[in-house]
Amino acid sequence: MEVIILPNQQKAAYLVAQILAKELKAHPRLVLGMATGRTMEPVYRLLVDMHQKEGLDFSLCSTFNLDEYIGIPADHPCSYRHYMNELLFDRVNIAKANTHLPDGMASDLGAECLRYEAAITQAGGIDLQLVGIGSDGHIGFNEPLSSLRSRTREKALTPATREQNAPMFGGDPANVPRRAITMGVGTILDSRRCLMLVTGKSKATILAKAVEGPISAMVTASALQLHPRCQVVVDEEAASELK
Ligand code: F6R
Repeated sequence: MEVIILPNQQKAAYLVAQILAKELKAHPRLVLGMATGRTMEPVYRLLVDMHQKEGLDFSLCSTFNLDEYIGIPADHPCSYRHYMNELLFDRVNIAKANTHLPDGMASDLGAECLRYEAAITQAGGIDLQLVGIGSDGHIGFNEPLSSLRSRTREKALTPATREQNAPMFGGDPANVPRRAITMGVGTILDSRRCLMLVTGKSKATILAKAVEGPISAMVTASALQLHPRCQVVVDEEAASELK
């Protein structure tokens, strides 16, 4: 695990966007693992900019998102499908058929999780996975006590996560769905390259646990210490509790 500390959020997001763009130029058929959340917003804005100004080409790549809420339709403004369409997919030349998120409205959620894993395998696995970290240390929605070998499955969201995501649901944690489908920790660890972006003071304590603490199912981001090629890009605020 390599930790790269940059002076501020913009520079950290810029490096992540640059790494992604470089991989995409070198490998146009790249399979990208995508994350949502506020941390990723500047990365997607930069990628749209690179597409518009420099012709960064998404036409042959495909994407798999980490997670999706259960019970929220794709066209709901809080769905992760909506987030991805709004911030990236509708603004670049990606083929929508090549963009994948778990279907949180599937009638058989267990079958949907198996289908999602199979689709990732069929695509040849994930080349580059973007990851953020939750206030409780989650990656994807792998909440504390998730198995470090877990695969895509249903997961109950913790009160901390529902609190963290409440601003997107009118400010009330009660409005945040209780369950989501998420790639497992094992699924994420299978990616060939992983980039974790962490910014802001509020993530400093959990980042230190993830990067410097013991590998523990209580902080699933710590499992990235086991990843063969993981870079953690952080701003100075998020890095402020690293030793
Ligand atoms: C989102 C995801 C989550 C977020 C994490 C941080 O697809 O998988 O793990 O990356 O909750 O969210 P923000 O960036 O909003 O603090």
